[in-house]
Amino acid sequence: MAVNRPSDATAHWWRDAAIYQIYVRSFADGDGDGTGDLAGVRSRLPHLVELGVDALWFTPWYLSPLADGGYDVADYRTIDPAFGTLAEAEKLIAEARELGIRTIIDIVPNHVSDQHTWFTEALAAGPGSPERELFHFRSGRGPDGALPPNDWVSEFGGTPWTRLDDGDWYLHLFAAQQPDLNWAHPAVRQEHEDVLRFWFERGVAGVRIDSAALLAKDPALPDFTAGHGPHPYVDRDELHDIYRSWRAIADEYGAVFVGEVWLPDAERFARYLRPDELHTAFNFNFLACPWDAGLLRSAIDGTLAEHAAVGAPATWVLCNHDVTRTVTRYGREDTGFDFAAKTFGTPTDLRLGTRRARAAALLSLALPGAAYLYQGEELGLPEADIPRDRIQDPMHFRSGGTDPGRDGCRVPLPWSAGAPYAGFGSTVEPWLPQPAGWASYAADLQRTDPDSMLSLYREALRLRRTEPGFRDTGTAGERLEWLPTPPGVLAFTRADRLICLVNLTEEPVEPPAHTEVLLSSGPLTDGGRIPNDTAAWLRG
Ligand code: NOJ
Repeated sequence: MAVNRPSDATAHWWRDAAIYQIYVRSFADGDGDGTGDLAGVRSRLPHLVELGVDALWFTPWYLSPLADGGYDVADYRTIDPAFGTLAEAEKLIAEARELGIRTIIDIVPNHVSDQHTWFTEALAAGPGSPERELFHFRSGRGPDGALPPNDWVSEFGGTPWTRLDDGDWYLHLFAAQQPDLNWAHPAVRQEHEDVLRFWFERGVAGVRIDSAALLAKDPALPDFTAGHGPHPYVDRDELHDIYRSWRAIADEYGAVFVGEVWLPDAERFARYLRPDELHTAFNFNFLACPWDAGLLRSAIDGTLAEHAAVGAPATWVLCNHDVTRTVTRYGREDTGFDFAAKTFGTPTDLRLGTRRARAAALLSLALPGAAYLYQGEELGLPEADIPRDRIQDPMHFRSGGTDPGRDGCRVPLPWSAGAPYAGFGSTVEPWLPQPAGWASYAADLQRTDPDSMLSLYREALRLRRTEPGFRDTGTAGERLEWLPTPPGVLAFTRADRLICLVNLTEEPVEPPAHTEVLLSSGPLTDGGRIPNDTAAWLRG
């Protein structure tokens, strides 16, 4: 088995890796049943090799009733039968590794599925039982305990408490099918440490930690509005002790973490990235930043400064399975901080959005640190409109139908223009409908088109991999330096005379003197100038 060892000569691979996120259900369907699966992923490994990524991050692939797309895990040691088997996952990890691609899995420590044996046993054991201590069960307030135990609000809207027939309430920060674990209980810690080892033993090179800043709760579960002092469930100090013990386990295997840590306070965020805690965390400020030169520059500077303080590399993410796809987002007039949020019917200009998404791709891939790509980003897929009667995301239902939910960025991928369901692999209709025109984005059409989004990503990833100036192995010389530019133009140098220039003004701009163009996100003008909403990589 391909267990990673710390002595590996490429031990710092994760500092500047290009990591591709696979939402298994929608990537490729190997058995034709309408749901993507591991056989589908294995059959498409050549696409990922050609694309030039260093690692795959799989959203949860474990046994799950799929009440929240797999973020409701019923058993961490079993692959969901809709996706395949454990043996197949092991084979996939090993095959990818032989092709030079590492595997990152997703662990969801804040909660489990209500079908997890811990929870079904807790329900059966009744109020006051030790089984219930693994979760947060409480009596309600008000007459007959008919009111929720506190005033918290679920991340998906509404109260995060559900009442059982026996009178107890249980806490779920997300959907009711996702009961929160009690991280003050030693068995909860022990189990997660065992699960980490289980997967590291199977050759997994890294773990993405879901909702990483939410696990620990104030044991009194006080009202939020009572609040002085630490938040009752966000970013509590107890978490650092948990992640220090996880880090010690990862170090035994040479494995790495990426935390889903969404905190506004840069100093608090950086605490998770101290040398004995998580290796990396997602950078959501950059993702949420509107297409504005000043705002992008300050998001980049802020990110680099907070990471430099703890010696951790930054991560650059433009989209994932929770946010509106980039070509749709950048084609909107939105400028607010809710830029990445889902909305029904906001007008979008896909031509403009695609042009900007191409420029954003070159910007993010030129920055020092690790880059994340979400499946379909390399095909320039737009956000799909899902007919209301086909929506599956619990976020939609918990919003009372006002939020479209996240299904629009989770539509099954188009692989071949001429095949049924755009070559997704299904012989029956896929679990989410593909909108009209989906086949025009098919990978097979884009492979041979030098101007396609796929060709741009392939060339950018090839240069990023082969140009030593794009490396980030942790030395200060590999950072970036801004060049003086007119307002609305971003330009910075990396090592080895590499320059990235992004023109967010209305007019074309001259490239810096004595430079050659290595790659641009769109055609230059006849005179060799860089048009608006276009990025170029140059060598000085
Ligand atoms: C963050 C995940 O990315 C999202 O998809 C999920 O719904 C929540 N965490 C809850 O696990």
